[in-house]
Amino acid sequence: METFIIAIENEKGGSGKTNTAIGLACGLKAAGYDVVVIDNDPQGGSMRWKRNSSSDNFPPVVLLGKNLEKTDTELYKASFLIIDGEPGIEANEQLKKLVRFMRRLSDDTSLPSSVRREINQGLREIIGSSLEITVSTVSAIKLSDLVIVPMKGSDQDVEPSMNLIDNLLKPRFEATGKPIYKALINEVPYSGNTINDGKSLQAQLRLQLTVKNIPVFNTTIHTRQQYREANTYGHTVFDEKASYEKCRVEMENLTMEVLETLGVKLNG
Ligand SMILES: Nc1ncnc2c1ncn2[C@@H]1O[C@H](COP(=O)(O)OP(=O)(O)O)[C@@H](O)[C@H]1O
Ligand SMILES: [Mg+2]
Repeated sequence: METFIIAIENEKGGSGKTNTAIGLACGLKAAGYDVVVIDNDPQGGSMRWKRNSSSDNFPPVVLLGKNLEKTDTELYKASFLIIDGEPGIEANEQLKKLVRFMRRLSDDTSLPSSVRREINQGLREIIGSSLEITVSTVSAIKLSDLVIVPMKGSDQDVEPSMNLIDNLLKPRFEATGKPIYKALINEVPYSGNTINDGKSLQAQLRLQLTVKNIPVFNTTIHTRQQYREANTYGHTVFDEKASYEKCRVEMENLTMEVLETLGVKLNG
């Protein structure tokens, strides 16, 4: 079987990249595929989750560019590489603001020259690192067969989540036919008396995406505290535990849709 590369990307931190990357990777592993997660976020959310875990359901996780020697056999035989993306573009916007502020300070002749030298040094380091972030997100997208963009269904302001689609994914797909991209609605409130709010928020978001011609998974990942719990305790939602059942079903549905999207026939 060929190797498929799936990148989970959204410039917004906390949009559900790591939750999706691990959930999907476990779903593919449970379906019998060899999977490796590549953690491309400098904060290393997937790696931390894995290190904290003793679950047999957890696939290998490698940091991009690091410790490959330990896992290279897994990497070479993997049918799916799942890239847990970095919160790049949003971070860049914040960095740009910081850089502008620091430039103003370093131009301020009323400050002692030793302080201004120090600020200049900091500026050089920040500019270097922010360039790296942008390049790595773009490279991940160029490598991928499928890019999944999780967006918060509970969020009124989804515009920042559209940046990546409008500015990178859509134009690239139109120009080269690759990669396929799909939005994933994550964290829709779904409990107690917020159920109606959740439904209408989800409907609004789906409509917004449809109007903009953005493909979206039918599977919705609801807000369930068990997702947070699994992350905290190093579990996977595929672990034997009755309270994880609903999360597991959501991740199984997402897995099936991903296989369908990539045109992969189910194993066995
Ligand atoms: N559907 C969900 N329901 C409940 N909590 C969630 C859900 N998706 C993500 N979370 C929690 O929200 C936080 C941020 O999610 P995460 O996947 O780490 O986002 P990102 O990787 O994009 O920064 C984590 O604590 C995670 O456990
Ligand atoms: Mg993360």
